[in-house]
Amino acid sequence: MNIISPIEHTHELSHFNCPFESQPKMSMITKLSSIFLRRSNNKSRMLYRCLSTSASVSQVSMVQGASRGIGLEFVRQLLVMKDEGHVVATCRKPEGATGLLELQEKFSQHLHICQLDLTNESTMEESANYVKDKFGHLNLLINASGILSIPGVIQPETTLSKVQRSSLLLAYEVNAVGPVLVIKHMWPLLKAGGSLALGKNASVVASLSARVGSIGDNKLGGWHSYRASKTALNQLTKNIAVEFARRKDPIICLLLHPGTVDTDLSKPFQKNVPEGKLFTKEFSVKKLLSIINNAKTHDNGKFFAWDGQEILW
Ligand SMILES: NC(=O)c1ccc[n+]([C@@H]2O[C@H](COP(=O)([O-])OP(=O)(O)OC[C@H]3O[C@@H](n4cnc5c(N)ncnc54)[C@H](OP(=O)(O)O)[C@@H]3O)[C@@H](O)[C@H]2O)c1
Repeated sequence: MNIISPIEHTHELSHFNCPFESQPKMSMITKLSSIFLRRSNNKSRMLYRCLSTSASVSQVSMVQGASRGIGLEFVRQLLVMKDEGHVVATCRKPEGATGLLELQEKFSQHLHICQLDLTNESTMEESANYVKDKFGHLNLLINASGILSIPGVIQPETTLSKVQRSSLLLAYEVNAVGPVLVIKHMWPLLKAGGSLALGKNASVVASLSARVGSIGDNKLGGWHSYRASKTALNQLTKNIAVEFARRKDPIICLLLHPGTVDTDLSKPFQKNVPEGKLFTKEFSVKKLLSIINNAKTHDNGKFFAWDGQEILW
């Protein structure tokens, strides 16, 4: 089983596909990107871009929240689409992520699994170190995790009288705080990835939000914890997008609404979904990947639905 615990990975040889591959631990490109990560001035950026594009550098994507549902489908489609690219899939319990383990049998050279729990920041740091040591850069980060209901722990509230402190805090921690901390830890790697000019001149961060997080679109009320946590995710991500733009960091941040998708998350609430409006994971992820692949600098900080329409804040 090729599960890579971020703690164990430092003794592995790099699988990096470049002329210096035989070096143990770090390829030349990885070393260059480390220099770039330390000294992100124009000269080192140009040197890095020049040398890295002349060697064979792979696209590296991370899907956070990849054990099941939409995240797992992102991993599958990225592996199929990007023949030469690498996908780092993170989840809380790799040993129980059967869908990921099946994919790993098929894509053993290109799929890397790291343990990451959104409620434990050190696991984010360890995953970032794994990517830094192995590749030195990241081109795409997808935050696909999220919670809506957990039996006996958190339920979408139908009235204010059912709102609980614990549910508000848990939804906020998993749906807003965690994804933002992941972006913080991957930031230097995304900067390095955006400077590589692989396909586009920026790396992309795509966080899965939900239309119900829109304040302007809120006509039904309810679902206090989930709604507010997604609203917080939107504001935090917009804030990060503004900072990246001001710093001229080559990173585009997107917030994405996948539609109502047939996953464990939506299962208990599917009975009122109109005919034809419950999407398969395959359909939704295909649409979202098209938005991600076509994202331009002017899309930084925007909130899009699965069909490419912008959503009101
Ligand atoms: N499905 C929909 O209709 C719909 C609609 C709008 C928005 N969304 C959003 O789309 C995203 C994906 O939803 P989904 O339908 O794929 O949900 P899902 O099938 O329930 O999967 C949720 C994922 O989040 C992970 N997760 C939960 N808590 C975590 C934690 N503390 N640390 C790390 N990972 C954690 C789960 O991992 P475990 O396996 O370890 O629990 C699982 O991989 C969510 O952000 C959701 O809010 C979904």
